[in-house]
Amino acid sequence: MFKIKDEIYWVGVKNWELRNFHGAEFSTPYGSSYNAYLIRDKQTALIDTVWQPFKEDFVNNLDQEVGLNNIDYIIINHSEIDHSGGLASLMHRIPDVPIYCTAKAKEILLKLFQKEWNFKVVKTGDTLNLGKNELLFIEAPMLHWPDSMLTFVKGTNVLLSNDAFGQHYAASGFFNDEVDQCKLDREAMKYFVNILHPFRKLIIQKIDQIKALNLTIEMIAPSHGIIWRDDPLQILDKYYEWSQNYQEDTVVIIYDTMWDSTRKIAHAIGEGIAREKVNYKIINATKFDNSDILVEVFKSKGILVGSPTVNNGILSSIPGLLEEIKGMKITGKIGGAFGSYGWSGEGVKIINNLLSEAKFEVINDGLKFKYKPTEEEFKECIEFGENFAKHIKGF
Ligand code: FEO
Repeated sequence: MFKIKDEIYWVGVKNWELRNFHGAEFSTPYGSSYNAYLIRDKQTALIDTVWQPFKEDFVNNLDQEVGLNNIDYIIINHSEIDHSGGLASLMHRIPDVPIYCTAKAKEILLKLFQKEWNFKVVKTGDTLNLGKNELLFIEAPMLHWPDSMLTFVKGTNVLLSNDAFGQHYAASGFFNDEVDQCKLDREAMKYFVNILHPFRKLIIQKIDQIKALNLTIEMIAPSHGIIWRDDPLQILDKYYEWSQNYQEDTVVIIYDTMWDSTRKIAHAIGEGIAREKVNYKIINATKFDNSDILVEVFKSKGILVGSPTVNNGILSSIPGLLEEIKGMKITGKIGGAFGSYGWSGEGVKIINNLLSEAKFEVINDGLKFKYKPTEEEFKECIEFGENFAKHIKGF
């Protein structure tokens, strides 16, 4: 248990060795944490639990340090198993304690656990008085599940934001002024891109709604990673900025290759882009994690995607990646395709179609060469890169 402010304590788990989240979808090189919080006021409220593998330690620690029978209320901001995984063990010990959550969370918890616990359904504006502090509930549907909710602790002035504003980052420090800023910024953006970006229009509305409530927010404590103590509103501003077709002046060239021709085309295109003084990054899709590639795509103004044609299609790393980009609704960027081929050569057209489906503005028919580019064809690659960079500069 660690006091974060006044009556609020962190009672979560730091998972230093986590390397993948959401199955294998999201790489977590710095681990993560499941941040549950306890408010010890006249009444005691527990906010969220932890992921299932840590449920016994979580419940036993709470029992030793607080005494489970001293918990008056449980607040579930979000029912996904990384936050509700300790609930069944907890309710086994204190079955009558009321659980405050949204109607959708109740529906999901009933399905997950098949238990008719003492649910108290809340909606935006509902409050729960604990003594010095009062909890204000703010529904946040689709940020990022239909059941998601934020809880603001009036009095201590801490926003318990659950997944929103989090990062997968385990560190010895608890607060943003205690940890590596580069890692924190990078992981906050990666979390936003991979978890919340599809819902960015709702994020803008929610931040506007939070601002209109005129709350004095002195700390933002998410359910993963580091707590925003120093200038806590900075993460709201970042989410606002990232939600509005965010772009940096850079191009990402993503490719897969069989016998090196497509890789060489990628590098020659990069040379052309550099001649126009535009930054670029080259990524072999088989050697990078998709969740990291998504961040680079998110930051770019445009992407070029390459694959050789194989069996009338393209190499398998590319469609999966483009499917993820489409699902994340990363739009407002330009796209192009390239690749080598042996005989049929439809790979470039397939990539362009996938880019169009993902709502990229495809600016030409792409670039393809038979077997291995000649010296003359490499010059075409450079020119292709220059033209793409000119589009980027005018975009
Ligand atoms: Fe961290 Fe949506 O669970």
